[in-house]
Amino acid sequence: MASEEKPSSRRPWSLRRKLVLGVLIALLIIGLALGLGLGLTIGRDDSDGDDDGDDNNPPPTTTVSPLPPPNTTFPWVPKVNDTWQIILAHPPLLSSSDTTTTPNVSIFDIDLFDTPAETIKQLHDLGKKVICYFSAGSYEDWRPDAGNFEPEDLGKGLDGWPGEKWLAVKSENVRKIIRSRVQMAKDKGCDGVDPDNVDGYQNDNGLDLTQDDSISFMSYLSSITAPLNLTMGLKNAGDIIPAVLPLVHFSVNEQCAQYGECTTFKPFIDAGKPVFHIEYPDGAGEGEVQTQGLQEDVVKKLCGKDGNAAGSEGFSTVLKKMELDGWVEYCDGNVQTTSVNETAGNHGGDSKRR
Ligand SMILES: *[C@@H]1O[C@H](CO)[C@@H](O)[C@H](O)[C@H]1NC(C)=O
Ligand SMILES: *[C@@H]1O[C@H](CO)[C@@H](O)[C@H](O)[C@H]1NC(C)=O
Ligand SMILES: *[C@@H]1O[C@H](CO)[C@@H](O)[C@H](O)[C@H]1NC(C)=O
Repeated sequence: MASEEKPSSRRPWSLRRKLVLGVLIALLIIGLALGLGLGLTIGRDDSDGDDDGDDNNPPPTTTVSPLPPPNTTFPWVPKVNDTWQIILAHPPLLSSSDTTTTPNVSIFDIDLFDTPAETIKQLHDLGKKVICYFSAGSYEDWRPDAGNFEPEDLGKGLDGWPGEKWLAVKSENVRKIIRSRVQMAKDKGCDGVDPDNVDGYQNDNGLDLTQDDSISFMSYLSSITAPLNLTMGLKNAGDIIPAVLPLVHFSVNEQCAQYGECTTFKPFIDAGKPVFHIEYPDGAGEGEVQTQGLQEDVVKKLCGKDGNAAGSEGFSTVLKKMELDGWVEYCDGNVQTTSVNETAGNHGGDSKRR
């Protein structure tokens, strides 16, 4: 009985043992596979990060990037020294008999919402490129899509800009709204976009925005503009230039000469990307200045390549009124006024931008 019981009791024990052994082997195989996979991943990460030549790994054959492959087929990207005009207060007003624009520059930076597609087409017909401005990092209560933001998307008000609030740029809802603005830029025929207020981290924003948030937001903006062939600029945000320079095609800078920080934006020029540089001198476009231009010493201070404006070699500088209307003076003293449609844009007649 016992001899019969033993095998009968040993069989299940043996089976259990086999099962345990099988499970152990399976775990070992899984473990080895995972280890191998992990090893391969680590190995690849190592070679990716290894561009300082301090170890003996062979150069990487593939790179891993969280971004879509860079669009190298943009039909147009702006160049260093390209000439431009920026008008955000009202849309420029062209007539069908115009044979050129005033001024005869190559690029117009204009408001995405306020400018009709027809105006963009007229500019194209005159051989001009169009960069469409919109605020990407602030809520503006007068925009037609303002009602789509949720209360939790909004932070503190922008100092000196009534009706504007910092945006939670990580919010899915904010990104969805910005995505439809980018699509609007594509639909209207813009060649590029000038997304403003991406430097919330520098301000008392009420949302704990960090530089990393801005970098991640610029990556997001790049991932939605590049597939549409829209070139994109970085507005101010000097601190994040090293991180996002590969993603953007130009800088739009305000007042680097006034604040003596033009050198911060020089990496754009070094990378062959233009810096569209705006200064807002006192009295710009007022009284006699409107036609005669600014005092020579004022122009020299903001346009010189030394002193306060050191580091601004190759910048495409415009001297403007803070409300960014049709008046502009260039560094060579050339003063021009673009006609605008005063019945459109300029919400409530406020000054528009810094
Ligand atoms: C982008 O431009 C390329 C040519 O430069 C063109 O082949 C492609 O269709 C364009 N894509 C879009 C979405 O416009
Ligand atoms: C406008 O500028 C372009 C490019 O510099 C030039 O070819 C053209 O002749 C200019 N047009 C007029 C009317 O000055
Ligand atoms: C831009 O213009 C400046 C001043 O005329 C010149 O020194 C510089 O070489 C130009 N840069 C390019 C890339 O054309």
